[in-house]
Amino acid sequence: MSVRHVLTLADLSPGELERIYAITRDLKAKYEQGVREPLLPGRVAALLFEHPSLRTRVSFEVGMAHLGGTALFLGKEVGWGSRESVADFARVLSQYVDVIIVRAKSHQRVEELARWAQVPVINALTDLAHPCQALADLFTISEHLGSPRGRTLVFVGDGNNVARSLAMACGHLGMRFRLAAPREHQFSPEYVEHLHRVAPQIQLEMTTDPQQAVRDADVIYTDVWTSMGQEAEKEQRRRKFAPYQVNAQLMALAPSDAIFMHNLPAHRGEEVTDEVIDGPQSVVVHQAANRLHAQKGLLVWLLGAKSPR
Ligand code: CP
Ligand code: NVA
Repeated sequence: MSVRHVLTLADLSPGELERIYAITRDLKAKYEQGVREPLLPGRVAALLFEHPSLRTRVSFEVGMAHLGGTALFLGKEVGWGSRESVADFARVLSQYVDVIIVRAKSHQRVEELARWAQVPVINALTDLAHPCQALADLFTISEHLGSPRGRTLVFVGDGNNVARSLAMACGHLGMRFRLAAPREHQFSPEYVEHLHRVAPQIQLEMTTDPQQAVRDADVIYTDVWTSMGQEAEKEQRRRKFAPYQVNAQLMALAPSDAIFMHNLPAHRGEEVTDEVIDGPQSVVVHQAANRLHAQKGLLVWLLGAKSPR
């Protein structure tokens, strides 16, 4: 039987997302009552990370511990793509662990790993996508606003990995996604076509005007202007994205009950000001907390006794 990977949210159907959220809600409610059900006893996750991480690494490690499993953080010395072929690496690692959670500089490298892996591979961020972030974020939105269906998420800033995954999650769950970004940082025509193919009911809008974009927003979301791996472009990006800062003036143009989200880490004073990220509309800490719960939901769905495998 073929192995189920989660490399982007195109790998999950809307029905599967709902199922993962049902598990997430149940696990979170139990966690809040002090119950940590060991639903994955003896299961082991390998965490293969080429970039730094706080939220993703810690929430996956803690999530596995809550579920009665273990997580192994693998450093450079395992030699992914350097000591042996990717095929040998992936097939051998699959003999030991139940899931490979990978953060990589290049999405293609993760696709190659997944081609050879005999256990599920979960994308923990690549240059293309950050599906676990978007998975958790739509859960956070539903906790604050109820069903995301018919609501509007406005992403102000770079049309990057986080924005791409959020757009797909919104497309799956009936939430309008509007990207306010300089034209050359909006989604490519190929990605727009991909979104329409994967989520045919998607409501996608792109604009260069952040002031107009936020007027009917339910969620205003931003991320760093310079993602990991793009450091050489930092100064140029700082200049280009300056009109896209989420500050009090921009928030004042949006409905007063709109929530502010940021996947973190934030570059305060660049894409967002202190008064917004620390302000009453900001849900960023709650959003980060839900990474744990949503990823536990994903792990149980993927690896649990009633998993589709
Ligand atoms: N949002 C997020 O993925 O954070 P980390 O880079 O700290 O994992
Ligand atoms: N877009 C950011 C997200 C970090 C979690 C990056 O790729 O660096």
